Amino acid sequence: MVVDKLSRHFFIALSKNKLLTKGARRWGLRLGASQVVAGTTIESVVQTVRTLNEQGLVCTVDHLGEFVSTKEEARAAAEVCIQTLEALDDAGVDSQLSVKLTQLGLDIDQELCLHHMKRIVRAAEAKRNFVQIDMEDYSRREATLEILARLRDSHENVGTAIQAYLHCAADDLRKLEGVPLRLVKGAYKEPKSVAYQQKSEIDDNFFRIIKQHLDSGSYTAIASHDHRMIKKVKDYCREQRIPRSQYEFQMLYGFRPGLQREIAAQGYRMRVYVPYGEDWYGYFMRRLAERPQNVAFALRGLFKK
Ligand code: FDA
Repeated sequence: MVVDKLSRHFFIALSKNKLLTKGARRWGLRLGASQVVAGTTIESVVQTVRTLNEQGLVCTVDHLGEFVSTKEEARAAAEVCIQTLEALDDAGVDSQLSVKLTQLGLDIDQELCLHHMKRIVRAAEAKRNFVQIDMEDYSRREATLEILARLRDSHENVGTAIQAYLHCAADDLRKLEGVPLRLVKGAYKEPKSVAYQQKSEIDDNFFRIIKQHLDSGSYTAIASHDHRMIKKVKDYCREQRIPRSQYEFQMLYGFRPGLQREIAAQGYRMRVYVPYGEDWYGYFMRRLAERPQNVAFALRGLFKK
């Protein structure tokens, strides 16, 4: 337990190191990161999506980005998102797009971020594709929900993630009935004034909000590697006769690939979140922080491309 905690802090500290983040752009994928990151180029992610599609899995692609601090960087990130949508469409593969608003300038200027999102969502609409906005830490929740509401005034092909560790999750869901959402436990460190701290409380609220969104007839993506939770959701949907077309499961690329294929083979829609890009380092360190057991496979891949 203590070791887990120490290693979590260690990897989170490493993930925030700007020098290493910059250095990693030059190294290419190292330290075993290729297990959980599809590559550094659009071509590599398209190839990965194609391979996953062949295994019966659908995808959502995320272009990794860290520390966007200028308007120019935000604009460049938006361009890459649009290019990614085009490349996925050109290749004829089955993949949506996931984005982080901080990468598109949320911390610099909210209106600018909305402007970029409008361009991305319109580009996706032209390709009949869907954009899912990742939910970042609590301090960005309100702005994220505001941007989503303004986008949804004129576009249906956009949604976001709701985090079960937040006390306000059920209220947020009530306002988002009908919106296709990704439901997650929550990945950031939040204070007890806004978030449940106990694993059991988070799990209970996760199942509660999953049922809430499903019961409202809304499309629900259950994003979790927790096989117990996945089983509970399958059982609930069977009992309540909720059609499989109303929900899907999601997992991260490289995590429990056997279980991903098993769920797809059972006839459920199984979506893999596939990150790619030169900024792989911070993402990789956060995954190691989340689950210290992942360190072993990372070490096995040390220095391997
Ligand atoms: P959790 O980590 O709670 O594990 C529960 C149990 O499942 C474990 O005890 C173990 O038995 C089993 N298990 C879990 N991982 C395993 C593994 N790798 N191998 C074997 N067994 C394992 N967060 C956020 O704040 N905003 C967001 O936008 C997103 N987006 C997102 C998309 C997708 C596709 C996923 C899968 C996750 C996110 N998350 C997220 C992250 C999410 O909030 C959460 O932090 C992680 O998914 C970890 O929680 P789990 O529900 O996966 O299981």
